[in-house]
Amino acid sequence: MIKKISIAYLTPEMYVSGFHWDQDVESSYQKEGRIPDWKTVELIKKRGVKELFIDTERGVDVEAGVSQDQIESEGDQTFAAYADEKPAVDKKVSTSEELIKAREVHSRAKGMIETAMQKALHGEDVDVDGFKELANDFIDSVTRNQNALACLSRIREKDAYLLEHSINVGVLMSILGKAMNLNRQSLFENVLGAILHDIGKILIPDEVLHKPGRLTEEEFGLMKKHSTFSRDILVKSGGLPQASLNVAYQHHERLDGTGYPQGLNKDTISLEAKMAAVVDVYDAITADRCYHKGLPPTIALKRMLEWTGSHLDKDILHTFIRAMGIYPVGSLVELTSGKLAVVIELNAQDQKQPMVKAIYHTKFKRFIKVELIDLTRKSTGEQIVRPSDPVNYGININDFLS
Ligand SMILES: [Fe+2]
Repeated sequence: MIKKISIAYLTPEMYVSGFHWDQDVESSYQKEGRIPDWKTVELIKKRGVKELFIDTERGVDVEAGVSQDQIESEGDQTFAAYADEKPAVDKKVSTSEELIKAREVHSRAKGMIETAMQKALHGEDVDVDGFKELANDFIDSVTRNQNALACLSRIREKDAYLLEHSINVGVLMSILGKAMNLNRQSLFENVLGAILHDIGKILIPDEVLHKPGRLTEEEFGLMKKHSTFSRDILVKSGGLPQASLNVAYQHHERLDGTGYPQGLNKDTISLEAKMAAVVDVYDAITADRCYHKGLPPTIALKRMLEWTGSHLDKDILHTFIRAMGIYPVGSLVELTSGKLAVVIELNAQDQKQPMVKAIYHTKFKRFIKVELIDLTRKSTGEQIVRPSDPVNYGININDFLS
């Protein structure tokens, strides 16, 4: 049985199965495995971990704790309440039309971030004006139809995490900021900061940045410097508004004061950094990394609800869920018939009825002829039964998004 326990109950010989629950993937402190000794227990405590998940079949059990099943069913109830809310989604042009522009913006963004990182690595300034234009292009695209960039953000290439993460956090910040009705200037400043928030990671040595195993105390200390490095690179480049700098410098702060680099709290973290924390965590936990498989988007949003209060701001996450939909674009869902389908377009009226592309049949365990299904049409007889994990069926979502 998988169960959640308080850190106070952690002992050697327990088996931590926590990596799917890891809200700060950069630390990878919850790498799955047996706890070898008290030194490791102390190390995990020092990292500020308050709760973690153990597998009682693979290691020592303890009477305290709550089972995963119980948490899941409670989470499902909370989540169901969100499903009935009207989505915060905009669509002024068709998705296929917007995809043409979005593809251009997306590929330009990749090239620009790559160049900026190389410049930062060599102590040169970043082309701030170019990024200002890019931030505006992100916002314009999302305003016309958010499905296009959201869809491109789900396509992941191997070994391109840092690049894609920078773009995705920018796209997600555009979607969130719009849903929060920020004025254009604030939206622009936040998106600009979001695209550049992790640029300081280029100064972290590769063997630490891409280390598959648990980071040592020293390595984690180094990793934690990246947000300060980001701020320093951006200040040196000049011309960035304060809010953009706040996004870069404060995106790892937590409401309860256990974040870094300053240990700010709910009263002192800026609004833009609270927003950045939500979109940063979402993109990080839904991506495949060298040390863990990405979570399906719906499951990721549910997990994030558990982290409100201590880490993430609840109201902001709430708006983010309404903006992404409980079944975000690019997620896999199971339909009434047993078919699996990829969500390709949100429905502005009802989160539970997006446009989907059916691709696989769970009963016959095989791929089927791709079929576009509009779930608002009753005649299809289809509804979403549950979110699904492509990993379980050997499905590569990338193949069905472009
Ligand atoms: Fe970061």
